[in-house]
Amino acid sequence: MSIKVVLCVALIVHFLAAYKPVITFHGINGNEHDFDRLKEWTEKYHPGQLFLLNPIFRRTESVFMNLPYQVLGLAASIERMKAEHNFTSHHLLCHSQGALVCRAYLQSFDHSCENFISLSGPQMGQFGATLYWENYMPFLRNLSTHEAHTLFYMRGVQYMITVANFWNDPWHHEEFLRESVFLPKYNYEKNEQFKQNFMKLKLAVFYGSPGDEVIEPWESAVFGFFNTSKPAYDYQMLTYRDQEVYTQDYFGLRTMGLQNRVIIKEIPNVNHGGWIFREDIFADYSLPYLT
Ligand SMILES: *[C@@H]1O[C@H](CO)[C@@H](O)[C@H](O)[C@H]1NC(C)=O
Ligand SMILES: *[C@@H]1O[C@H](CO)[C@@H](O)[C@H](O)[C@H]1NC(C)=O
Ligand SMILES: *[C@@H]1O[C@H](CO)[C@@H](O)[C@H](O)[C@H]1NC(C)=O
Repeated sequence: MSIKVVLCVALIVHFLAAYKPVITFHGINGNEHDFDRLKEWTEKYHPGQLFLLNPIFRRTESVFMNLPYQVLGLAASIERMKAEHNFTSHHLLCHSQGALVCRAYLQSFDHSCENFISLSGPQMGQFGATLYWENYMPFLRNLSTHEAHTLFYMRGVQYMITVANFWNDPWHHEEFLRESVFLPKYNYEKNEQFKQNFMKLKLAVFYGSPGDEVIEPWESAVFGFFNTSKPAYDYQMLTYRDQEVYTQDYFGLRTMGLQNRVIIKEIPNVNHGGWIFREDIFADYSLPYLT
């Protein structure tokens, strides 16, 4: 072999070894192809990086298969990919509802994820009936935000539609803690195992934007939420610093924050799809942590 070929092979091996594989997971009513553009851009910026589309819970399945079940499905899918492509460590890049499922997975399993990026995930839940939701779920059309808890906190409905799993009505907080089968467990439960698992991450990144037209309140994506101690209609937005999930360090967010291993950041003017459809946003905010 000539020295050129040896160098060339060495370079290719270097590229292949340099970047960790990226596993993706899409949001509600999406599918794996939501990440097609990001895959192209990854090939451009990080040649040789394995960028894996995740063909689970597509379209209507993502709406009607409850989130506790999706967490298990995600775990199985990640194990399949690790076996198929023979890697042990990877990154997770997740959008919207998928980003909430990804976090729950990272708390629940002895994972091997290095960096986790949450792109506008409803981490503190959803409280708002937006046009977007209504488009995909027309039966919600005339259900007002303030009435929705009567439906979403019914046990049967918890297992029927995923929005119910992260519906967070600040004026019915006790009911939420008691009846919701998903979000309270991951945001309000002191669980050493959750903490141990989540803290295996090197870095957790949570992005949100006031330009988001889907997540309500948009601050939920960066662990902000209304003060649930206020009376109904008395809206006081509290940042993550005043949330129990952070102050009580339920799954290590605070500890990791103090160690500079958490980035919680709002970026102006990014609409909900912008995180997966805009090259500039991807290159500036996600790519630096997908190394
Ligand atoms: C998988 O990777 C390991 C090193 O990480 C290597 O020892 C092993 O031979 C690989 N197996 C396959 C089937 O490629
Ligand atoms: C919703 O309410 C509007 C106005 O009150 C009414 O015209 C419409 O028929 C309702 N739609 C459904 C699906 O019930
Ligand atoms: C939340 O509201 C309660 C009740 O009004 C108040 O006592 C508390 O200080 C508020 N929390 C913060 C962090 O402002």
